[in-house]
Amino acid sequence: MRTQVGIVGAGPAGLLLSQLLHLQGIESVVLEDRDRAYVEQRVRAGVLEHGSAAMLREAGVGKRMDTEGMPHEGTELRFAHARHRIDFQELTGRHITVYGQQEIVKDLVEARLSAGGDVRFEVDDVTLHDLDGTRPRIEFVEAGERRSLECDFVAGTDGFHGVCRGYVPDQTVHERHYPFAWLGILAEAPASSAELIYARHDEGFALHSMRTPEIVRMYLQVDPDEDIHSWPDERIWSGLHTRLATTDGFALTEGPIFDKGITPMRSFVTTPMQQGRLLLAGDAAHIVPPTGAKGMNLAMSDVRVLSRALGGYYAEAREDLLAAYTDTALWRVWRSTHFSWWMTMMLHVDPHEDPFGHRLALAQLDYVTSSRAMETSFAENYTGMPYREGWSYR
Ligand code: FAD
Ligand code: PHB
Repeated sequence: MRTQVGIVGAGPAGLLLSQLLHLQGIESVVLEDRDRAYVEQRVRAGVLEHGSAAMLREAGVGKRMDTEGMPHEGTELRFAHARHRIDFQELTGRHITVYGQQEIVKDLVEARLSAGGDVRFEVDDVTLHDLDGTRPRIEFVEAGERRSLECDFVAGTDGFHGVCRGYVPDQTVHERHYPFAWLGILAEAPASSAELIYARHDEGFALHSMRTPEIVRMYLQVDPDEDIHSWPDERIWSGLHTRLATTDGFALTEGPIFDKGITPMRSFVTTPMQQGRLLLAGDAAHIVPPTGAKGMNLAMSDVRVLSRALGGYYAEAREDLLAAYTDTALWRVWRSTHFSWWMTMMLHVDPHEDPFGHRLALAQLDYVTSSRAMETSFAENYTGMPYREGWSYR
């Protein structure tokens, strides 16, 4: 088998790359180890930056997002039992869209398959070969048979636990672990607020988000080694009520919880993001704590840079854009890494922090919600810094 770009992993990064390459007339094959139903149901991100939503529209996969997604023109930061709204639209002229990651994955799989694209689920034992030559190969097992896919380039979009990152020798890793995790739930309940609420409380962080007008997505800060079985539904609701309470009587609506899980939090950036003809994108190269809602957006911005670089290679034999891929992508990776770390530290209660540290976090929250300059900085980071270049080479 032969293709131009072999893509490992059918998450948002791999599928969007395949779609953007297709629109530039470049062929790809996507290899995914899970089955289609699994990747289409995996509950993860929910917030799209302004530019990410625009990119999906330009890629021809924005139709359902535009009817079912929920545009939000602001968000709320809540602390000391008081509400503070940040108005994205007024401050930056930009907004975010709340639309589940698994819906984006469904839309992308559907777009690729209906255009005759080659997306293979349930492949095993992916290994990479000859990455330093001009004919790299991906070997894998499909339906019990060993196969070989010869490519011009390999895109490693197989997430944080994938295999591709292991093929980049001499990596420099920048990493930070946090002394807390997020317990996330999905519940059948109408949203208790029209916008997201990020809350800092003495007992810890809480987030009120949503998926549809009838389904809420909420998170609570918990210990990193917390057992989900010690969190029966009543304890979760009680924690959410306490942490989201305001002096002006905020009322949280409860409903049946149908999904629960604990996610550890980590910042991780590896460089370089490439080796010979292998290019890493998304969680395969970096992860951020979810507080800034940046992970999926970063996966999409890497792919945007990569799509343009591969477009330049095929249209005009340009090698320079590919050579600069890591450096070009890293600017945004570090901006988002900083923003996610900063928001995490401001909103979570570090169990090892002394009262001085708690007061610093509150002083920071007070500044962010009372200075127009800081509100604007928050809003431009949260809605996503504007892109400097398009995803297409032409
Ligand atoms: P993934 O989505 O991990 O996709 C990688 C794919 O590769 C998977 O389908 C995997 O099965 C496959 N794979 C792995 N190994 C192999 C292999 N060896 N061979 C073949 N295939 C393989 N981000 C945001 O932007 N906004 C948010 O609001 C947000 N909230 C989050 C909330 C939670 C609870 C979590 C856990 C994450 C959140 N994120 C958020 C982060 C976001 O989900 C990830 O950053 C995003 O999924 C990265 O996309 P990706 O395509 O790089 O990787
Ligand atoms: C979500 O809706 O899942 C969500 C929203 C905001 C975040 C993280 C996750 O910062």
